Amino acid sequence: MRETIKMLKLAVSAAKEAGRYAADHIDKVKKIEHKGGYNNIVTDIDKKCEEIIIGKITEIFPLHSILAEETGEHRVDSRAAVKWVVDPIDGTTNYAHGFPIFCTSIGVLLNDESLIGVVYDASRDELFTAERGCGAFLNGKKITVSSVALLRDSLVATGFAYDAEGKAANLDYFKAALSKVQAVRRAGSAALDLCYVASGRFDGFWEMELSPWDTAAAHLIVQEAGGTVSTFARGAFNIFKKEIAASNGKIHNEMLELFEGSGSLPTPHTEAQRAEGSL
Ligand code: IPD
Ligand code: CA
Ligand code: CA
Repeated sequence: MRETIKMLKLAVSAAKEAGRYAADHIDKVKKIEHKGGYNNIVTDIDKKCEEIIIGKITEIFPLHSILAEETGEHRVDSRAAVKWVVDPIDGTTNYAHGFPIFCTSIGVLLNDESLIGVVYDASRDELFTAERGCGAFLNGKKITVSSVALLRDSLVATGFAYDAEGKAANLDYFKAALSKVQAVRRAGSAALDLCYVASGRFDGFWEMELSPWDTAAAHLIVQEAGGTVSTFARGAFNIFKKEIAASNGKIHNEMLELFEGSGSLPTPHTEAQRAEGSL
């Protein structure tokens, strides 16, 4: 079997097993801990899901590196060019309150380039998958971004950072968007927000303080569905950049121009900066 297919199958089975475990235990959370800031929490179920995923990866690919939200780097010294990037539960705050918007996200990088993305929403039994160059799929059916061409007709989404400063910074963007789009949503799972852009349910999404495990799988799913993913300054996105702007491509510029006028960006973007970007 082609190595990439083997990795994709493993990512799917690990995401499904962990996602189902999470869904089955949503009313059985025993322990909630605070990580760093008070609002940034982790449950015993996040940890168990991560253990399930890491166990499955290690069993089949014992040399591959892993970066996982709750346990950090595994096998950093490995010579293998492959790195698995794992978010056991994306949407933990929702999860801890029994609000069923959460998912399991597994991305695979080859030589630091995204190769595979798998996001599983166990509450709706929705599996989003992508392999670089091969398109994006929802439960095996090809998906594409929406065709909405104007911001005023768009449904967009965002998320807020855990820290007060990050929250305040995004409030300007949120305010700027509210009066220009059809509606803005804040559902609480960045990976699912991105998958919803990929499947045309949202037309755009932005967030400012994300971590590699939030975007590793889903940014590739957006790209493979024909969408555009960039930084706010229209530069190329990679999962180690904290800010992300994702859209169907058609509203991308309008969405980013909206933010430029909101007063939150540190400096106005010059033509030269735009020229540097990858759009
Ligand atoms: C969080 C979710 C949320 C986003 C936060 C993320 P977590 O991930 O994706 O929607 O706004 O920035 O940290 O902590 O639930 O895995
Ligand atoms: Ca996350
Ligand atoms: Ca998480």
